[in-house]
Amino acid sequence: MTIRISGTGSALPQRTVTNTELTELVDTSDQWIRERTGIGERRISTGETVAALAADACRQALNMAGKTASEVELILVATCTPELLLPCCGCQVQSMLGASQAAAFDLNAACAGFLFALDTVYAYLKAGIYRNALVVGSEVISKLVDWSDRSTCVLFGDGAGAVFVEAANEDVICENGRTAGVEALLQGADGSKGSVLSCQERPVQNPFLPEQPEACAGPYVHMDGREVYKFATRQVPACILAALEQAELTVEDVDLFLLHQANERIIAAAAKRLGAELDKFPMNLQRLGNMSSATIPVLLDELNRAGRIHKGDRLVLSGFGAGLTYGATVLVWG
Ligand code: ACO
Repeated sequence: MTIRISGTGSALPQRTVTNTELTELVDTSDQWIRERTGIGERRISTGETVAALAADACRQALNMAGKTASEVELILVATCTPELLLPCCGCQVQSMLGASQAAAFDLNAACAGFLFALDTVYAYLKAGIYRNALVVGSEVISKLVDWSDRSTCVLFGDGAGAVFVEAANEDVICENGRTAGVEALLQGADGSKGSVLSCQERPVQNPFLPEQPEACAGPYVHMDGREVYKFATRQVPACILAALEQAELTVEDVDLFLLHQANERIIAAAAKRLGAELDKFPMNLQRLGNMSSATIPVLLDELNRAGRIHKGDRLVLSGFGAGLTYGATVLVWG
């Protein structure tokens, strides 16, 4: 048994915010942002919600797969920016789609969330618990950003991407002889480095505390950019190599590497460490910035719709994020 991604979709807020516009908010420049990150502009929500963006992306994925909402068995939304603590975003999406037969829940692994959700769905489908699922990465991370902090506000964007995944009972052999489906996956976390990229929730506050806590410093993303950079440039290539080794493959066997779109320099450094051509690492961060868990599925959808992914292509998806979390999944498109 393996899985097949039969539909992809994405949804972005209407409003584009350029680097030049950010220079009106903080002491920065278009040149600094482009040189240090590669980012030129990003989409920022002016009302679009995590749930609505997710539902839009799901509708497109279902449409491409030729499925109706009532056929969906599971909705798994990766997000760290839901509108509500309760109920979960997955249930909001289920309601918006009218996918009444689907189980639904959320998963938070920050920017590695979509990858972890895809791996989770793979395990469910492989175990025969469900036959299909919508896997989503959706974020309105702009609401967690301190717009007076130049070290973080220039990095992020909002958006959502989704895939429809189906169990394939029989092997699908592609024209190039490769068998479609997941070939290897690897997930990891280093909780001891949690403080280098974090965002506070409300502190415990109730009438029974001996002392009332100090007011929360503000639920904004706090990041030690250099530490995250070091972690990503070391861990992402190491994790990709380990996943490839699991499948007895080498870097040369891979057609495209879809990496979390945080920073062009991180992607270039990963390519260099892997000894792979940079043109195998498609990017959309120049237009969309870092959309956390949404970056990989949005990129996948853009490439798929542009006809840049073909049956039999071997893809490596790899992400990293707050946690710190990281992972890599090797799959053949079928
Ligand atoms: N504009 C102008 N100057 C800036 C800006 C800005 N937007 N931000 C920081 N600076 C300044 C700093 O204050 C510092 O000034 P100083 O030397 O006077 O102290 C100088 O630029 C250099 O700062 P560094 O932090 O050393 O810059 P660096 O080259 O490391 O780039 C960056 C910063 C882009 C954040 C980089 O460290 C990075 O990409 N890190 C990884 C971040 C990341 O990937 N985060 C997300 C991953 S997980 C997730 O997606 C949630």
